[in-house]
Amino acid sequence: MDANIVVLAGDGIGPEVTAEAQKILDVVAEKFAHRFHFDPQLMGGRAIDEVGNSLPDETVAACNAADAILLGAVGGPKWDNPNAADRPERGLLAIRKALHLFANVRPVKLHPQLIGASTLKPEVLEGVDLVVIRELTGGIYFGPRKEAGEEAAEAFDTMLYTRPEIERVVRLAAETAMGRSKRLASVDKANVLASSRLWRRVATETLGDYPDLEVEHVLVDAMSMHLIRRPATFDVIVAPNLFGDILTDEASMLAGSMGMLPSASLGDLMNQQQLPLGLYEPIHGSAPDIAGQGVANPLAAILSTAMLLRYSLGLETEAAAVESAVDAVLEEGVRTPDIKDTGTEVVPTQVMGDLVAEKLQTADAD
Ligand code: IPM
Ligand code: MG
Repeated sequence: MDANIVVLAGDGIGPEVTAEAQKILDVVAEKFAHRFHFDPQLMGGRAIDEVGNSLPDETVAACNAADAILLGAVGGPKWDNPNAADRPERGLLAIRKALHLFANVRPVKLHPQLIGASTLKPEVLEGVDLVVIRELTGGIYFGPRKEAGEEAAEAFDTMLYTRPEIERVVRLAAETAMGRSKRLASVDKANVLASSRLWRRVATETLGDYPDLEVEHVLVDAMSMHLIRRPATFDVIVAPNLFGDILTDEASMLAGSMGMLPSASLGDLMNQQQLPLGLYEPIHGSAPDIAGQGVANPLAAILSTAMLLRYSLGLETEAAAVESAVDAVLEEGVRTPDIKDTGTEVVPTQVMGDLVAEKLQTADAD
């Protein structure tokens, strides 16, 4: 297969981890006889510095024409001025919107080798394997707002949802749950928020089409507790934008480290392969505190390439091979600092990437 992949390396540790992810895609291409063409484009803080815009038009055009997009991370203290006209995060939100990426799929799977790396007790973590589907182009991230301005007297953001926005993401979550263990938890704050009451109503109606699903509606505050109290009881969780953002950072600790969690943002646009045009990124941010030191964990970015291969290129065997290579490296006790544990060997970002590449190269192709 010939595929065109736009790479938005971004800021902070973004370039370090995407370099390792590309290394893995190169190995996949060679081993399985594909041709992946990488098209690096600007987004985020570096784009502001270089061309004065966190999301240049050229980047949007390239993404639209691509089969898939690989993203590192955006943001950093350099661009944190609250009065700045543009911010790195604006670029990320704008590309999500431009590409209709209304669903952010964040699998949280505990690699058993990392059970000791989490701050949570092993007996709580046993069997954790869930997927959070976060609504990504609506809600309070995109509703009407007022900045505080010069007087700094008042500011507001609005959590606005429409029926179709809720329905399409709940449907995607329901389909996902049907392909897994048929359990779905829908998150809202229906006891207080009008937008959440609509969310619950539309979710309930939509899920009426899926009588085989076991459904629970969970208030977001309660969910934040249940996630660390009984994480293994959840299968698919669907949540509004802001709630999903918060819950997935919390859920990342179930996998030992944020450095382990990949994500796929999907929508209704199709690529040249007639598969969903998706954007793939680790859920961790730009981590400016460790940027440039070569200590970032590239596994979330590498696991994001597995999702890219699976969803946007339809290459399931290749995706599974990448995941197995990651497993094999963890099995050998190799770790980056964020997941280190007694008796393990700590290696830098590039070495971790090399080791996964080597495992992938030498594994039997099936
Ligand atoms: C995420 C991040 C982003 C978000 C930031 C960087 C804008 O936290 O992808 O989870 O809030 O969506
Ligand atoms: Mg977040």
